[in-house]
Amino acid sequence: MTIQTQRSWAEPFKIKMVEPLKMTTKPEREKALKEAGYNTFLLRSEDVYIDLLTDSGTNAMSEHQWAGLMLGDEAYAGSRNFFHLEDAIKKHYGYKYLVPTHQGRGAEHLISKIMIKPGDFIPGNMYFTTTRLHQELAGGTFIDVIVDEAHDTSNKNPFKGNIDLQKLENIIKKAGAKKIPYVSIAGTVNMAGGQPFSMKNLKQVRELTDKHGIKIIFDATRAIENAYFIKLREDGYQNKTIPDILLEMCSYTDGATMSAKKDLLVNIGGFLALNDGDIFEEARNMVVIYEGLHTYGGLAGRDMEAMARGIEEAVLFDHIRARVGQVEYVGNKLLEAGVPIVEPIGGHAIFLDAKQFFSQIPQTEFPAQTLAAEIYLDSGVRTMERGIVSAGRNKDTGDHYYPKLELVRVTFPRRVYTQAHCDVTAESIIDVFERRQSIKGMKMVYEPKYLRFFQARFERL
Ligand code: F0G
Repeated sequence: MTIQTQRSWAEPFKIKMVEPLKMTTKPEREKALKEAGYNTFLLRSEDVYIDLLTDSGTNAMSEHQWAGLMLGDEAYAGSRNFFHLEDAIKKHYGYKYLVPTHQGRGAEHLISKIMIKPGDFIPGNMYFTTTRLHQELAGGTFIDVIVDEAHDTSNKNPFKGNIDLQKLENIIKKAGAKKIPYVSIAGTVNMAGGQPFSMKNLKQVRELTDKHGIKIIFDATRAIENAYFIKLREDGYQNKTIPDILLEMCSYTDGATMSAKKDLLVNIGGFLALNDGDIFEEARNMVVIYEGLHTYGGLAGRDMEAMARGIEEAVLFDHIRARVGQVEYVGNKLLEAGVPIVEPIGGHAIFLDAKQFFSQIPQTEFPAQTLAAEIYLDSGVRTMERGIVSAGRNKDTGDHYYPKLELVRVTFPRRVYTQAHCDVTAESIIDVFERRQSIKGMKMVYEPKYLRFFQARFERL
């Protein structure tokens, strides 16, 4: 590596166009929050100053991507942008077949419907909300086989996204390989705090699943961030490039679902990529029912072009280093102030440990939901609950799932905010932390049936 990589992670771009932000007063935010039922998902984005709700679809596109929009071929069938996208996916992810979808959950819907039969089990490295729901709607049961360290916010294991091979072997023994259509493995595990798996672990999972004839479906949504951590942290990968590492990762899997709204620097888009011709045939047939023709899958031609160009930018080392560097910058400020966060600092977000932050608020009074509301009130910074509300209810018992992790995600869109925005964010969280003891929890007053965190409403206790 050259000497330059020792220096700051400063961004490899400059700003050409700006989007003005509304600055609000505390009474205005109090009113907006109340109207939103204390759920940051229900705020109007106009009332938000710094939006760290999600890194999904909130990225800034480059001039090259914007130029690509003008080259959209909006033909119903066989758009040239589809072929550009197919080429970029083959080159960087290595899969043979592509089915575009409107976003990640479109791909999850297709693969779950095709591969899962009622009564099946799908082991994975911690659940993701939409992924698990599609598996359940297809009649399957998700089994969490992530390493125990992932549930411990202070454990500094560099690969907390790893699969526990013993847990995986146990479920294969218990359920039988025939009842396991695939293992669901995600890069930089979102709900674990943006934690990566190691290449070694993935190889071991491949060996074990090969022995039993079980497939691996990769949630490649943040695979490039995972590749970056492998380069930084895993022996033998320091001198490999991000594209090499990405290709190697994908080579151990049978297919991937992708929410391109993250790694791939676009505002909308996704895909299902596959190596198995038969599954591809089914997916290509099914996409026509649920998304659109197999050469656009719910996207405009221009969206596919932006994604194809986004892939080429997303794998550049200087890009990914600045992206993860920005998250680390804020995370380190919080650590210095003693704010409890998930360590190591994740790839796309900092996860505040709301159980420790508000040790006086029991999980049934929604500490993470409360913390996200308080941060918004303090500064107009919008974050997201990732705890008991996101976990939902057990479909058999009707009780809440009680996740070990009760977190608030402070999520960074790619290429959007400046270092000064980062400073304001850290200062606001630290201020709330300093008056944490005076804050009370909440009660849920409205609960939707599916993915309740999006629309649930709360009141202060
Ligand atoms: N998989 C992962 C790991 C995700 O983080 C997401 C979305 C999806 C699948 C679903 O993709 O939204 O394009 O349908 N995560 C967003 C988030 C919503 O804020 O983390 P989608």
